[in-house]
Amino acid sequence: MKIAMVGSGYVGLVSGACFADFGHDVVCIDKDQGKIDRLHDGVMPIYEPGLAALVESNVKAGRLSFTTSLAEGIKDARAIFIAVGTPSRRGDGHADLSFVYAVAKEIGESLANPAVIVTKSTVPVGTGDEVERILSDSGTSHQFSVVSNPEFLREGAAIGDFKRPDRIVIGTEDEFGQDIMREVYRPLFLNESPILFTSRRTSELIKYAANAFLATKITFINEMADLCEKVGANVQDVSRGIGMDNRIGPKFLHAGPGYGGSCFPKDTLALLKTAEDYDSPTRIVEAVVKVNDSRKRAMGRKVLEALGGVDAARGKKAALLGLTFKPNTDDMRDSPAIAVAQTLTDAGVHVSAYDPEGMELAKPMMPDVVMCEDPYEAIEGADVTVIVTEWDAFRALDLDRVKQLANSPEMVDLRNVYNPEDMRAAGFAYSSVGRA
Ligand code: UDX
Repeated sequence: MKIAMVGSGYVGLVSGACFADFGHDVVCIDKDQGKIDRLHDGVMPIYEPGLAALVESNVKAGRLSFTTSLAEGIKDARAIFIAVGTPSRRGDGHADLSFVYAVAKEIGESLANPAVIVTKSTVPVGTGDEVERILSDSGTSHQFSVVSNPEFLREGAAIGDFKRPDRIVIGTEDEFGQDIMREVYRPLFLNESPILFTSRRTSELIKYAANAFLATKITFINEMADLCEKVGANVQDVSRGIGMDNRIGPKFLHAGPGYGGSCFPKDTLALLKTAEDYDSPTRIVEAVVKVNDSRKRAMGRKVLEALGGVDAARGKKAALLGLTFKPNTDDMRDSPAIAVAQTLTDAGVHVSAYDPEGMELAKPMMPDVVMCEDPYEAIEGADVTVIVTEWDAFRALDLDRVKQLANSPEMVDLRNVYNPEDMRAAGFAYSSVGRA
């Protein structure tokens, strides 16, 4: 089947490459000529493990191609996915749908055969109705159906998530839409991935509810971590102890510096706006957003404490290991590292940093931070070493070397990568999250 993917960003490119790998004939479309030129040269616009190889092999096999022309790209496509960005609108947190609607209009004007138009972008409830209206208004004479099919891809693990999903959610009550979507996902059907067919509005809400729930789970365990520190308990054991209950489940219960990234912060805000619009408050999500925001700065203050308090910290040096919001990505969006670095530089602390992939994007966000070639260069002369992101490269640091290079054997581990007893035995003053 021919599939068109409008928008060759993170979601569009990963989904397009994976559909091609299933044997579909996929065209990825993007307005950005530079991006399309680079894709033709095999250069990926984002860092995602395995993506470059997947793109290369499918281009070679003739199943994946790229174009800037929407009309050309959607020709003969049975399924046309909209996978463009829906950033938070400046000022009010609403999802900005202008890209989605512009693409819908262009599809309506160029449609040359019957097709299903699928929104993969994360869009508020009711967006599918508007897309349908735009397509109808375009005066197209071809049969079409507008379907919602949210993505649940984690950065750094996106290809695995696409190929082995926990579930596929498809929002359409129309038979034409259902038949084509079944065909699109048939390879996964055969792998027995569960597919949930539901209404379009329900499908749109499922995406927000899933992300808000996961953000809540993380925020809950983060507050438990704070309580653990006060009462002398261990949050990792609390996570295990509650996670073994099948009703709770063990995942997304790692305490840390707060969630970041391109989805949770944006989608929780957008959900709050929808709730407000429909006068149906979601107070738990409101609290989650507030608690998570304040947590990031609190992590900076935790580092200041390790430096002896705000006054003593002035003029000292902190080394940040990891800047991205999580490992295996170069994404800096809403990364806790930004607030940590800001709190430290505001207090007059000199900050050096190293991140395996994120430094280029991080630099303009933290102009006062000195970016280094490797973790040890960052640690040289540091009064405190802070693990901000749990990259594998920081899991087995040469601790003797760290002690030799650092000005003081002080470590703040915001991801609980190390064992407190081992660190103390190695001669470190060590603090972490939710472990007395
Ligand atoms: C998320 C969702 O998982 C995915 O389904 C959705 O489509 C997009 O948003 P992503 O943002 O890539 O994916 O990252 P994820 O692995 O979910 O982590 C999000 C944030 O939560 C990170 O900052 C991470 O460090 C943090 N986190 C995650 C925790 O602090 N503790 C956890 O237990 C899990």
